[in-house]
Amino acid sequence: MVNKPSLLICSFVAMSTHKKRIAVVPGDGIGKEVIPNALDVLRASGAAVEFTHFDWGADRYLLDGTTMPAGGFEMLARDFDAIFVGALGDPRVPSNIHAKEILLGMRFEMDLYANVRPVRLLDDSLCPLKNAGVDDVNFTVVRENTEGVYAGMGGNFKLGTPDEIATQEDINTRKGVERVIRFAFEYARSNGRKKVLMADKSNVMTHAGGLWQRVFKQVGGEYSDIATQHMYVDALCLQMVREPQSLDVIVTNNMFGDIITDLAAALQGGLGMAASGNIHPERTSMFEPVHGSAPPIAGKNMANPMGSILTGALMLAHLGMTAEAAKIEAAVVEAVRERRTTVDVGGLLGTRECAQWIADRVGK
Ligand code: NAD
Ligand code: IPM
Ligand code: MN
Repeated sequence: MVNKPSLLICSFVAMSTHKKRIAVVPGDGIGKEVIPNALDVLRASGAAVEFTHFDWGADRYLLDGTTMPAGGFEMLARDFDAIFVGALGDPRVPSNIHAKEILLGMRFEMDLYANVRPVRLLDDSLCPLKNAGVDDVNFTVVRENTEGVYAGMGGNFKLGTPDEIATQEDINTRKGVERVIRFAFEYARSNGRKKVLMADKSNVMTHAGGLWQRVFKQVGGEYSDIATQHMYVDALCLQMVREPQSLDVIVTNNMFGDIITDLAAALQGGLGMAASGNIHPERTSMFEPVHGSAPPIAGKNMANPMGSILTGALMLAHLGMTAEAAKIEAAVVEAVRERRTTVDVGGLLGTRECAQWIADRVGK
C-alpha cells in the first residue's frame, strides 16, 4: 500500500500561544530511563511545552504507600494539557496495585476511552516478516480502554479450596462500544484512512459480540466514505502476519486490543518501537509507550527510547504541534536507517546515546 499517512494522529486541541503543560510520570524500571531521554528530544524540537514531574510509581509506593494521591486525577485533568507516562510494574510490588491504581486509574477515572496504537514499520530492516517492507506495515489499532474484562468485575467463591470458583466479567456498554467505534471512524476520516475493521469473537462471545456487531453496522452506516470489515480476532492475528498491508484502522475491545498490539509491535521491530495515546477527545489525554517496565534490562542504559520518543511526537501532534512532531518522527526514521539504535533493533548504542543522536538531529 502506498501513500499512507504517518503515525501522527489528528489534532483535537487547538494551537495556542501559551506553553502546553505536560505532567510527566516516568514510573518504574526502564520508564525512568526512556522518559527523561525522550524529554530531551521534545525539548530539542523547540515545542512550546513545559514539564512537571511526578514521582508516582513503585519507589514512592514502597516508601509511603502512595499510589495515586487523593485528588490526583482531578488535578491532572484541571492543570495539564497532556500526561506523559513511562511504564508501571515492579517485581517488588507483586500485587501490581500501584500500576493498577496509577495507570489503569488514569485510563478509567479520566475516561480515556480510546487507546490509539499506531503500527508503522519505519525501515524494512526492522520487520521480522519475510519480504515485508515499510509499505506493508502501516495501520492503527483503536483499543477500547475503559471497559471489558479490565473493569475488574467478578469475584471468587470458596477461595483456596478445591471447589474454588473465579469469575471475570466482560463489561460492554452500548455507550462505551458506540463511542470507541465512532472514534475509530472519525480517526480514519481525519487521518486519510480508508477502512475500519472491527475484530471480536462474536462466534463464541455472542452477547458482547452481538452488541459490537450491531453498533459497528449502525455507526459504519454513517460513514459512507469509509469501508467496513469484520474479522474474528484469531483470524485477524493470522492476517496481521500474513497480509498486514490489508489493514488500515482496527477497532476492538480492551483485552483483544492489548494482545494484538504486542503482536503488532513485533511487526514494527519490537516493543521498544511502539507508541500509544490514551485519548478522550475533549479531555486531558495520556501518552505512553506500549512496552512495560522491562525489569531485566532496567538501569542498564539498554532500553530502546524510540517508543517513548515516538509517543512524545504523538502527544505533540495531539496538542497541535504537528511540525515539531513530524521533525521528531523524521529523526527517528533516520536513526533507524543509520542504525543509531539500541541492541534490540540491531544497533550498538545505549538508551542515552540513541536519544541524544535523535535530539541532535531534531535540534539541527
Ligand atoms: P515488557 O514490555 O516490560 O517486556 C517485554 C519484553 O520486551 C522484554 O523482553 C523486554 O526486555 C522487552 N522490552 C520492552 N520494552 C523495551 C525497550 N524499550 N527496549 C528494549 N526492550 C524492551 O513486558 P513484561 O515483561 O510483560 O512486563 C514487565 C512489567 O511491566 C510488568 O510489571 C507489567 O505489568 C508491566 N507493564 C507495564 C506496562 C505499562 O506501564 N504500560 C505495559 C506492559 C507491561
Ligand atoms: C498495556 C499493558 C497494560 C494493559 C498493563 C500493564 C495493565 O499491557 O498498556 O498494553 O494490559 O493494558
Ligand atoms: Mn499490553
